Amino acid sequence: MSLHEGSIENIAGPVVRARGMRGARMYDVVRVANEGLIGEIIRLEGDFATIQVYEDTAGITPGEPVVNTGAPLSVELAPGLLTSIYDGIQRPLPLIKAQAGDFIARGVSVSPIDHDRKWLFEPAATVGGQVGGGDVLGNVQETNSVLHRVMVPPQTKGKLAWLADKGEFTVDEPVARIAAEDGSETELAMLQKWPVRIGRPFAKKLDPTVPLITGQRIFDTFFPIAKGGTAAIPGGFGTGKTVSQHQLAKWSDAQIVVYIGCGERGNEMTDVLREFPELEDPKSGEPLMNRTVLIANTSNMPVAAREASVYTGITIAEYYRDMGYDVALMADSTSRWAEAMREISGRLEEMPGEEGYPAYLASRLADFYERAGRVALRGGKDREGSISVIGAVSPPGGDFSEPVTQNTLRIVKVFWALDSDLADRRHFPSVNWLRSYSLYLSDVKGWWHEKVGPEWLHLRNRAMALLQKESELQEIIQLVGPDALPPREQAALEGARIIREDFLQQNAFHDVDTYCPERKQYRMLEIMLGFYDLMSKAVGAGVHIEEIKSLKSKEAISRMPLVPNGEYEKRFDEMERAMADEIRALGVGT
Ligand SMILES: Nc1ncnc2c1ncn2[C@@H]1O[C@H](COP(=O)(O)OP(=O)(O)OP(=O)(O)O)[C@@H](O)[C@H]1O
Ligand SMILES: [Mg+2]
Repeated sequence: MSLHEGSIENIAGPVVRARGMRGARMYDVVRVANEGLIGEIIRLEGDFATIQVYEDTAGITPGEPVVNTGAPLSVELAPGLLTSIYDGIQRPLPLIKAQAGDFIARGVSVSPIDHDRKWLFEPAATVGGQVGGGDVLGNVQETNSVLHRVMVPPQTKGKLAWLADKGEFTVDEPVARIAAEDGSETELAMLQKWPVRIGRPFAKKLDPTVPLITGQRIFDTFFPIAKGGTAAIPGGFGTGKTVSQHQLAKWSDAQIVVYIGCGERGNEMTDVLREFPELEDPKSGEPLMNRTVLIANTSNMPVAAREASVYTGITIAEYYRDMGYDVALMADSTSRWAEAMREISGRLEEMPGEEGYPAYLASRLADFYERAGRVALRGGKDREGSISVIGAVSPPGGDFSEPVTQNTLRIVKVFWALDSDLADRRHFPSVNWLRSYSLYLSDVKGWWHEKVGPEWLHLRNRAMALLQKESELQEIIQLVGPDALPPREQAALEGARIIREDFLQQNAFHDVDTYCPERKQYRMLEIMLGFYDLMSKAVGAGVHIEEIKSLKSKEAISRMPLVPNGEYEKRFDEMERAMADEIRALGVGT
């Protein structure tokens, strides 16, 4: 391919216009100026190309060269991704630091993957057979936590003419040869490349009928996300977005985590960079990074790299999905990504939409979340994988009517609305149960009923109704005070309070409470609602509500979250019996 060399016409922050670019294509990657800064063509008009530059453009001048690489912005996919920390265009952060000091020097080319490291490849296919995109050729133990499946790249198919024996290979050394129908042969190494702006292919989307279990009661029981589902966590300053995302990364039952940090303040990302590598995978005791790829954009990095980071992240997620894994992708926060789009759009002098965001904000958000899903994979039979996407949103002033929150709301199926009032009262997670919702309830109902308990949706809906009742009663209480309420409604208030304080609140930093198994969630809710029923009966029979509030069972209920996960079955059964005895002692039949 002949690579045209153009020259810089003008520079506006991260956006550069170059002339002499005939023959270039949209989204080609170019090297800009004498230093060879990495950029991407985002507009073509005749001879002129508009380029967003992923590195600081300070000091470059018109007339300096622009060289087209002829290739779109792509990621390298191979063993070695896990444990990595990348910037938005997949440059490894620690390596860049070592080479160029603390700041990322401009124009530095560092490979995302270690090309010298040897991996033990174990073949897992039959020579002579037909193979196509997605078929597994062999396996590499990438980390103690994850077996990496070496796959035929999406576009390749033919007869497997040769497969390497078990042995050590770099990601560039051939491990297989495929003979196409016309007799031509292709050598395959473990390394694949894929353009980030295009989703990797799959056979078909599957219904999202399996919940992503997070161990967080308000998520799993009240507003569940399915594997392959989409969720947003909007919340004002300090309401718990990052703690929630970390809890999901640590505890959700996904085998792979892709965590995209788009920080507003530099120190926010420094925290992520420092904390994440120290996190332990609570289920295996291994470092969490063994099944994690971390993408970090600090605010001092150019906005264009932030714009690219979500695509880099989701493409890596798709690669592990294609291996048959359940992947969870968190982006914290998507508002910073939208702001990057706004800034670049402004430099392009595009017609601004709402609050200065580009008119294509909605479609960009939709395209990103659209890459989530539970899918049947190409290659092999009955193989499936999933990507669940959970985006934090940080609306200025916590006002959900702003464009990023509103456009996200239209796309995602789960909305976990964080609430500053709850956070101020130290009710965590500060998820507002009246404003949040999940559209997966009926999808995942079957799974819960089969695997956990047949009353799941019924219990959940009863608890929800109780909370709604509480909010209605609140208005009356404002007017007449709680004592004026009839006994039954006082019982409802007490029932709602138990659900709120002992079920919905969950301390991320408590040894036991940080993770609540799904069966424990179910039993807790069952017992709490059982207590409420007994309470209603008792007040109906003339027992005073204060007498019930001082029962031992009531106190036992409040300690349920802290009952160790290995003991709760037995202890909860005992509690239930004691509860019935206590109510009976008040002279109420149970
Ligand atoms: N589940 C939880 N359990 C206990 N404490 C929590 C929980 N969630 C949040 N918090 C408390 O709230 C504080 C702020 O949370 P976090 O940093 O996640 O907020 P944020 O919404 O990401 O803030 P920012 O707007 O600055 O990004 C935490 O430091 C912690 O003290
Ligand atoms: Mg945060």
